[in-house]
Amino acid sequence: MDVHTTVADFQAARRRRSGSLGLVPTMGYLHRGHLALVRLAREENDLLAVSIFVNPAQFGPSEDYEAYPRDMDRDLDLLRRERVDYVFAPGVEEMYPPGHDTWIDPGDLGTRLEGAHRPGHFRGVATVVAKLFNVVAPDRAYFGQKDGQQVAVVRRMVSHLGMGVDIVAVPTVREEDGLALSSRNVYLTPEQREAAPAVFRALLAAERLWSRGERDGDVLRGAVRIVLEETPLIEAVDYVSVAGTPGLAELDRVTGPAMVSVAVRMGRARLIDNLVLDPASLPGSH
Ligand code: PAJ
Repeated sequence: MDVHTTVADFQAARRRRSGSLGLVPTMGYLHRGHLALVRLAREENDLLAVSIFVNPAQFGPSEDYEAYPRDMDRDLDLLRRERVDYVFAPGVEEMYPPGHDTWIDPGDLGTRLEGAHRPGHFRGVATVVAKLFNVVAPDRAYFGQKDGQQVAVVRRMVSHLGMGVDIVAVPTVREEDGLALSSRNVYLTPEQREAAPAVFRALLAAERLWSRGERDGDVLRGAVRIVLEETPLIEAVDYVSVAGTPGLAELDRVTGPAMVSVAVRMGRARLIDNLVLDPASLPGSH
């Protein structure tokens, strides 16, 4: 496994080998969720690159950029075992040289849900993903459904800018009690960790109603809120959304594919999760 910290080194190594290339972009501190992306990418491509870069541009001024957990040695051990060919782990100056002043604005989609609570977040995500695509030039790139809006933003950018990268969305990997794996789960105290699966249970409550035929957006959002509000350790609910995919505008009535998603605050952690409501999954739809 090659580890490269500069664009020039990575590209020189890439040119020495031919074959299809998959890319898994990450911010490191890898867990089984990341590894699900890596394993699928390993199966589907001749060569596999994983990037590790904690992207300052997607963190707000009062967010956890400095505190974000990092463990490069452990990450490299895990990736070696997955038979990754290239790790691209640039420093901040390599990705954002002094004077860097070119950004990708993901439009309305970037201002909804997460974007409404984290202004500039998706501008930072879209820009770094575009840069990674330019540097690595992958055939396919792998993203987790855990960050459903991120998948939508990246797909739209690739389509609007004609980037020619296949975007593969990988289902969310969960703990046994339903909590979606996240590098930020380390911020939870034991009590908060025990209460955190309420987020998934809240989404399941909406999914259950929807699968029984409920189509009213407010009723579905209300069902999610009830479960969240029964959980005292949840300090604030940033949003509860039932939105159409892929545009993610809030729905009055759910008449097609949709995503139910939430963000809550619990102590130092901000937990996000979602479920896709896919009409094709309902009995009798085939
Ligand atoms: P990061 O949070 O490290 O996540 C890297 C990838 O792993 C993302 O596509 C994310 O959706 C996926 N992932 C995280 N937890 C997951 C889970 N429980 N199940 C399945 N997939 C999961 O997302 C980012 O980094 C950054 O925004 C990035 C795309 C790298 C741009 O900086």
